[in-house]
Amino acid sequence: METKPNITSLDPIVALAKRRGFVFQSSEIYGGLSSCYDYGPLGCEVKRNVKNAWWHSMVQTRENIVGLDASIIMHPKVWEASGHVSGFTDPLVECKRCGRRVRADHMPEEGFICPKGEKKAKCDFGEARAFNLMFKTNLGPIVAPENDVYLRPETAQGIFVNYQNVVDSTRVSLPFGIAQQGKSFRNEITTRHFTFRTCEFEQMEMEFFCRPEAMQEWYEYWREERINWFKKLGVSSERLRLREHASDELAHYSSGCADVEYLFPFGWAELEGIACRGNYDLTKHSEHSGKKLLWRDQVSNETFIPHVVEPALGTDRAVLTFLVDAYKEEEVDGNMRTVMSFHPKIAPTKLAVFPLMKKDGLGDKAREIFESLKENYACSYDDSGNIGKRYRRQDEAGTPLCITIDHDSLTNNTVTIRDRDTLKQDTVPLTELRENIYKRLEF
Ligand code: GAP
Repeated sequence: METKPNITSLDPIVALAKRRGFVFQSSEIYGGLSSCYDYGPLGCEVKRNVKNAWWHSMVQTRENIVGLDASIIMHPKVWEASGHVSGFTDPLVECKRCGRRVRADHMPEEGFICPKGEKKAKCDFGEARAFNLMFKTNLGPIVAPENDVYLRPETAQGIFVNYQNVVDSTRVSLPFGIAQQGKSFRNEITTRHFTFRTCEFEQMEMEFFCRPEAMQEWYEYWREERINWFKKLGVSSERLRLREHASDELAHYSSGCADVEYLFPFGWAELEGIACRGNYDLTKHSEHSGKKLLWRDQVSNETFIPHVVEPALGTDRAVLTFLVDAYKEEEVDGNMRTVMSFHPKIAPTKLAVFPLMKKDGLGDKAREIFESLKENYACSYDDSGNIGKRYRRQDEAGTPLCITIDHDSLTNNTVTIRDRDTLKQDTVPLTELRENIYKRLEF
């Protein structure tokens, strides 16, 4: 059995994603909407599993991290305070004739042919101007500047503005974290690489509040924790790395930032940023809201503004990483198979149940087994086509185990379990089926 190691483009992933229902182009029947994607039946399960794995690791298994689910639309002053209204911009040039905008630093010297087929020279474009990346809309029935609101460009600010609510309503004490998952929006001019950079995307962010002198120690802790999260979920370690930002890449308020990067077919690219944000955000919100956002030490009565370490992960980039990393083409007995070797926690379907044939009571027996397993596992039932075809379908879906019911199941009460990765088939007594599945899926 031979594994083709590194795929050199995202094309096979995009094709498999459509063929098997992981990811579709948005509004495809209308010609598609650029940079917008929909997760299909298998993709939405993978995305849900990724979010659940993150929530389990960051919130449910930690005593000092709590969750939050803030509104996407927030008071416009939030974005003034955070610096997004004045500073969240890209330098763009705009074509004087067709209005098309291009990143000033991405404008080729020789100009380019625009989608309408017109040749654009560099002199067709005006001076570079700063364009804000936030999507603006208006809240309520009156369209007036005072009703302008923004779709959030990051989930983090929903956490900072709820800092006092969480402190007052829970028993958290420093150091502690507030975690959130949800959609963010950025009017990115350059979107590319499938779901890697889009205008609508999801983030999973956690703001970890600590004493100022402890920030460096927590920064180092969270860098390791976050890269290890990917490794524990099966992502190849040789395709993961931590890249420390150089001092000129850092935001002015940040004393350290590292990216978890993955080696995609198009090169190393950022999945997650782990940043020291200091007390910048709480300070700014205190100033702009007039509400003191402090921590009071119960023992010494000392008050101070906590410092923050922030691991910020893009959900869609994590999903793309799991898709790319799981993708394999292998030769089995002279035939090629495509297999998605997902970690069991990420796999959209954990088990597939097949009757060898529908007749002779095998279908009924298989249904009975399927009905009892589906209460505990994401499970699929397939009785169409020959067994080989059914295996191939499940390989492309990334299902770790296939359970076949044959005549021995009726006479000896046994089933066959086939492992997606090793292709090994084992006969297992029905009485031991649950335990056997449990051990293999390592739940
Ligand atoms: N609160 C900090 C923050 O938002 P960021 O580096 O701008 O930091 C965090 O974003 C993560 O969100 C990125 O590492 C990336 O995974 C994801 N992300 C950012 N912009 C994105 C986009 N246009 N499309 C998809 N994911 C994006």
